[in-house]
Amino acid sequence: MKIVVATGNAHKLKEIREILTEHEILSAHEAGFFGDVEETGETFLANALLKAHAVCNLTGLPALADDSGLCVDALGGAPGVYSARFSGGGDAANRALLLRKLGNTENRRAHFTCAMALVFPDGRMFTAEGRTEGTILFEERGSGGFGYDSLFLSDELGVTFAEATEAQKNAVSHRGRALAALREQL
Ligand code: IMP
Repeated sequence: MKIVVATGNAHKLKEIREILTEHEILSAHEAGFFGDVEETGETFLANALLKAHAVCNLTGLPALADDSGLCVDALGGAPGVYSARFSGGGDAANRALLLRKLGNTENRRAHFTCAMALVFPDGRMFTAEGRTEGTILFEERGSGGFGYDSLFLSDELGVTFAEATEAQKNAVSHRGRALAALREQL
């Protein structure tokens, strides 16, 4: 099946392509969508649905959207849905702000969450969520991945997502799990 991924994030697109190998995955640009969908929802799922509907409507193709983020216990679940916009800067500024906000806090428990929505032109839609647990380190480790990966020590892998191989990360990640759950429904 041809599926457009409603994201401008090249890292997410790459991970989705590596996981959903049985489908032809198009980027939003490849499908002729150059807009930007405002993420006005208060939940990951609401934002994923907003993006998937917008891109499906404009391209006429099945559209898959991911909304994801990091939730840190000691910060009351922040940055959560604001993970991408946490500092107002890019990924490096977001990581620096996270370390600053946590300071020497001992409770560094955190999880990544991902909501996936797949919307079809005939109105059918499928949604799924995935989650993965870990702790936030005091300094970055590893050079792979994106976003908060180098600060996130995965419980299951024993290394940060930036130190893990792509296959290792995909096997336990929030995005990998949400896509596996979606695939079951399909
Ligand atoms: P979204 O585009 O609103 O879903 O933004 C998600 C943000 O959450 C990204 O910009 C990252 O900061 C963070 N994030 C989501 N998934 C991951 C991941 O797998 N690794 C690291 N950071 C992630």
